[in-house]
Amino acid sequence: MSRIPFIVGNWKMYKNASSAMELCDQLRTGIRTAGDREVGVAPPLALLPLVQQRLENSRIRVGGQNVHPQAEGAFTGEVSAEMLASVGCSFVIIGHSERRQHFNEGDSFLGAKLLAAFRAQLDPIFCLGETLQERESGATEGVIRRQLDKALASLTPPQASRIIVAYEPVWAIGTGRTATPETAQQVHHLIREYFRGLCGIEGANRLRILYGGSVKPDNVDGLMAQPDIDGTLVGGASLNAADFARIVDYRT
Ligand code: PGA
Repeated sequence: MSRIPFIVGNWKMYKNASSAMELCDQLRTGIRTAGDREVGVAPPLALLPLVQQRLENSRIRVGGQNVHPQAEGAFTGEVSAEMLASVGCSFVIIGHSERRQHFNEGDSFLGAKLLAAFRAQLDPIFCLGETLQERESGATEGVIRRQLDKALASLTPPQASRIIVAYEPVWAIGTGRTATPETAQQVHHLIREYFRGLCGIEGANRLRILYGGSVKPDNVDGLMAQPDIDGTLVGGASLNAADFARIVDYRT
């Protein structure tokens, strides 16, 4: 089964109104968007409507970096899936390791966010991955399984097969130390096997699994050549239009 690769730029807490507009203009002209791959950017919350407008009628999708489980309510500083959808978002990143680490977001809470994304017809990109200590102690597989078990507990198997997974080893994020294509492939394969058990062969074959963690122009080709790597979640290199365009234009 062929899966359409999805290349997503996570701008984190970078850019302001004017530098974001500039990046949007560079992306509009620099990015090759043939129908064989999807491209998206996730700007900071305050910039979403601006970026969405600036990228209108391009093939670049816009998404949020975070979402609250509730549709509305007294949750100062938060944003709902419905609100993201109302400004043109079509996907949302859930469970990034920076959210887990700095804001104490646990897997059950993240499961509720997945349901919120479905409620508003957003594609959730669910991030998971092990720390360096967990990898070195041989705990990687157990950690990945536990993260999936907890977050997917309240989803039906058809819902589970509609999420997009992003494997992001914590030790590779922002460190310049990317996983080798073989190391990443091993974990991606394990994740697909997990979904095979949960939602059957078809669901597992449909599932897109992105890799994230120091993806750059010079390592993307090797990563994307792996059979179970269906795209990339790019942090630092997505802030530079030429680098991001080269990553989108990966060659296998
Ligand atoms: P990085 O970030 O590409 O800067 O390592 C990836 C991410 O956090 O999604």
